[in-house]
Amino acid sequence: MSRVTLTQHLIEQQRAGRINPDLRLLIEVVARAVKAISVNVSKGALAGLLGEAGTDNIQGEAQKKLDVIANDILLQANEWGGHLAAMASEEVEEVHQIPFDYPKGGYLLLFDPLDGSSNIDVNISVGTIFSVLRNVGQPGDPSEASFMQSGTEQAAAGYALYGPSTMFILTVGHGVHGFTLDREMGSFVYTHPFMTIPQDTSEYAINSSNARYWEPPVQRYVAELQAGKSGPRGRDFNMRWVASMVADVHRILTRGGVFMYPLDEKCRAVGGKLRLMYEANPMAMIVEQAGGAASTGRERIMTIQPQKLHQRVPVILGSANEVEIACSYHRES
Ligand code: AHG
Ligand code: MN
Ligand code: MN
Repeated sequence: MSRVTLTQHLIEQQRAGRINPDLRLLIEVVARAVKAISVNVSKGALAGLLGEAGTDNIQGEAQKKLDVIANDILLQANEWGGHLAAMASEEVEEVHQIPFDYPKGGYLLLFDPLDGSSNIDVNISVGTIFSVLRNVGQPGDPSEASFMQSGTEQAAAGYALYGPSTMFILTVGHGVHGFTLDREMGSFVYTHPFMTIPQDTSEYAINSSNARYWEPPVQRYVAELQAGKSGPRGRDFNMRWVASMVADVHRILTRGGVFMYPLDEKCRAVGGKLRLMYEANPMAMIVEQAGGAASTGRERIMTIQPQKLHQRVPVILGSANEVEIACSYHRES
């Protein structure tokens, strides 16, 4: 059986003029780091990797041991290749500069090293999310300002899902492509070409414990989904919430659905729950490239002009027709 690997797929993308050698190397290095994270995630308690690290990150969230390990793996893997100008991570407050003894390249890499970390200790799927921007700033060490580019400027975006199998999902702006890790061979195999999200769905994902804090348009939208057959939507909807955005988005990419972490009274002061630069933007690019939609309810996520590295935004993404209904309720209110 002839099997196309991620490496072969990327070389073909390069020959087709869709990526240059530096971006190819960058994606290869991220995928290599993802394999190392996958090994650590799957060892779990055997390697003493569960539980708290005993530190807080910039968001004031308690770091898990695997948050710290995944972050270190990604930083170290990407420092020396010469393809990056700088990095930014959920777990690091400031821009992470490339050490002076390594050459610098033209790209900026942003990541959520471990997404869904509340699920680590209960052995439920977690992931890694990444976004790639071009360094369009002045020569020298990139500042936070160099990263302040809208999602439409992303050169690539992707995520890894550490589930029953480890998967690597990638877009460079020509559709969404999925790879499954062959653990014996140590390579990602091209298993999911051109992933698409159905326009319609009967499945939604939201943390309902926040219901009393939601804004009226979200209250209305979810109430109508829950009313099912006897309500205005005339059909039943199923609810799924993994609490790992990567796993929820992957389900949507596989069989459709709508995912919401909307603005509510609890998170209004900080603008939302999920982070724009390394959660919402890369997922929005993937979802749009798969034919879906991604909005805050009020505007397209990918056209937001970022103000800061760790900015938060409301997120409504997935099957295009459902996202549009939720957005229309925001417009009407
Ligand atoms: P992270 O683990 O990187 O901080 O992200 C967690 C995010 C996202 O993955 C998930 O959808 C959401 O937070 C879960 O929120 P609740 O705890 O409200 O369910
Ligand atoms: Mn996350
Ligand atoms: Mn995280």
